[in-house]
Amino acid sequence: MIRFEQVTKSFGAQPILNGVDLTFPKGKISVVIGRSGAGKSVILKHVMGFIKPDNGKIWIGGEDTSEWDQKTWRHNRKRFGMLFQDSALFDSMDVMENVAFPLREHTHKSEEEIQTLVMEKLKLVGLVNAEKKATTDLSGGMRKRVGLARAIALDPEVVLFDEPSSGLDPIVTHVIDQLILDTQAQTGCTYVVISHDMASAYRIADKITMLYEGKVVFDDTTQAAQNTDNPLVRQFVEGQLNGPFNIYY
Ligand SMILES: Nc1ncnc2c1ncn2[C@@H]1O[C@H](COP(=O)(O)OP(=O)(O)OP(=O)(O)O)[C@@H](O)[C@H]1O
Ligand SMILES: [Mg+2]
Repeated sequence: MIRFEQVTKSFGAQPILNGVDLTFPKGKISVVIGRSGAGKSVILKHVMGFIKPDNGKIWIGGEDTSEWDQKTWRHNRKRFGMLFQDSALFDSMDVMENVAFPLREHTHKSEEEIQTLVMEKLKLVGLVNAEKKATTDLSGGMRKRVGLARAIALDPEVVLFDEPSSGLDPIVTHVIDQLILDTQAQTGCTYVVISHDMASAYRIADKITMLYEGKVVFDDTTQAAQNTDNPLVRQFVEGQLNGPFNIYY
């Protein structure tokens, strides 16, 4: 579904991606891991077309995105849903309006259709009787659920999750993981999940990609990640201080 081919990106003098090759296969859950600052969110911003590579290509659904103009990007972005790192809810709107937002922006559906769709998505993420709540009254886990309902409101082909479990306790993390697995199984969408949390990555991933110093240093199945001798993966997974990681990077 999505393929990066030798993608490089620098911000000023700072190289962030340095020849990244990776694939996010259709209908699977791909998890990207790596240190803080490794460029994980930058990968998602490339997929959304918010930033463009300096060199290399990004293929989406078999198309070379370097050939897409602004209008094509705007059209194709509707095929993607995104759950942002901090949920990024609109605090001036209640739960219902947050989930309705993409439907109002991108479709011409009637008010009745919108209400029905919103209730359907809220049910899918396990939020019932919460539609009139102010987002500021929600717990972190509930905010993630609303963010997820909003991300899937337009029935996207691809859903991108930037650290869906950051700031959540281990049990709520597990609940969100289960929600990711359930919604993916129900919709058959392509999911890309950025994560720091290895327990969570192992639970949900079909494949795991690890970024380090601008390159992909591991890209294989979850089982292969659990069994690999790759010292970078082992150190990251075990959170060890000693190992090949430059801890001042
Ligand atoms: N638009 C931008 N302009 C300049 N620098 C940027 C921009 N976006 C990202 N960066 C830089 O790129 C580097 C990687 O950022 P990124 O947000 O992808 O890290 P990350 O792997 O998602 O980290 P974290 O796990 O902390 O979220 C950082 O040094 C960041 O400052
Ligand atoms: Mg990030």
